[in-house]
Amino acid sequence: MTSTLLRGRLLSFNRAPQSLTDAGSYTYETNGGLLIEDGRIVARGAYAEIKAKAPAETIEIDHRPHLILPGLIDTHLHFPQMQVIASYAANLLEWLNTYTFPEECRFVERAHAERIATHFYDELIRHGTTTAVAYCSVHKASGDAYFAEALRRNMRMVGGKVMMDRNAPQGLLDTPEMGYDETRAVIAEWHGKGRNHVAITPRFAITSTPEQMEAAATLAREFPDLHIQTHLSENHAEIAFTCELYPEAIDYTDIYARYGLLGRKSLFGHCIHLSEREADAMSEAGAVAVHCPTSNLFLGSGLFPLKAFARREKPVRIGVATDIGGGSSYSMLRTMDEAYKIQQLLGERLNPLDSYYHMTLGNAEALSLADRIGTLDPGTDADLVVLDAAATPAMALKMEVVKTLPEELFLLQTMGDDRAVAETYVAGKAVKTAL
Ligand code: GUN
Ligand code: ZN
Repeated sequence: MTSTLLRGRLLSFNRAPQSLTDAGSYTYETNGGLLIEDGRIVARGAYAEIKAKAPAETIEIDHRPHLILPGLIDTHLHFPQMQVIASYAANLLEWLNTYTFPEECRFVERAHAERIATHFYDELIRHGTTTAVAYCSVHKASGDAYFAEALRRNMRMVGGKVMMDRNAPQGLLDTPEMGYDETRAVIAEWHGKGRNHVAITPRFAITSTPEQMEAAATLAREFPDLHIQTHLSENHAEIAFTCELYPEAIDYTDIYARYGLLGRKSLFGHCIHLSEREADAMSEAGAVAVHCPTSNLFLGSGLFPLKAFARREKPVRIGVATDIGGGSSYSMLRTMDEAYKIQQLLGERLNPLDSYYHMTLGNAEALSLADRIGTLDPGTDADLVVLDAAATPAMALKMEVVKTLPEELFLLQTMGDDRAVAETYVAGKAVKTAL
């Protein structure tokens, strides 16, 4: 058994911060030690104390003066959209039809899916993201490529073969039966293999017939522990079209509820324009609204009411995500910078503790995976990110006047990107500098 001892400033959240001065919401060790064995964290504390406990042959890595945090988590992005990023479109539906659907057709080729999968994981690692929740394309081969590469890299990943059987090009359509059978095949081959989690993935109500929604409902009943992911209430034209397609539903959220898709393992991308009734329904079901700020700004979709959702009498659970390739950056730091600006436009404050909570423990809780990822707690997986707040000359200059941890976190969020990620650890192994 090999033991590794990391030295640096350790930051891990215990719960959602109530304010910028809520010191009980996190644990911060200024001269910390983190002992890792067999891919797990076994001890955390003051460096001297952990060093004294470490076996004699322990390998020591000194990351001072950098911060060591749990690996960042991205709860919504599209693996087949790496070459869709930066596509010039007026809105969501134009962007989907003009760029996104044609690009996803290419994933019928296993070799293409495998090539993109390699780049996909390289980018996650480069940006300090150690767990992500992705949509593959409709093709089973894309799911196979996605999970095979996750297994090879020993990363904890969630994902699903998209189900879609209408309102898209022929090359991107399955049928209710195919969607069901191929999702079952992906579950049988990949769920629980290595650190893989398969998600039931009807793309959104526009691209699934009621018959396919029934098939998704059956899968949800047959596999109640699996995540479910789809899109909800992103754009006004999308909402209007969706409600025309399902006239019997009260509203967009009700469509998913009618098919048994609204529950604690359900992740709904966007949720920008929900009514109070829909937000109540989400809250009562314990479903998660996933905020994708760079995407919402890029596609002009709207301003997500993150703070308003959190302080409701019936709060809505929240995840944060890049939504590549509607989103424009793989970086969760860039993502939270844009999330901050969206709250500013809404007259709200998103403080830096909140941001880092969301990128780590908050997203782990949104995935019901906080027992494994999202903290530096002993017993959990040693998925980590090492952040350097002086990574660029401009950041280093600003760091000269930074005095507190929240100030440093805010600088990292405001100016940081992959250059600020000094190292990424997956199950205790340094993987970024090895790229
Ligand atoms: N709604 C349905 N599919 C998509 C997608 O690929 N990206 C975004 N942003 N919204 C969607
Ligand atoms: Zn999406």
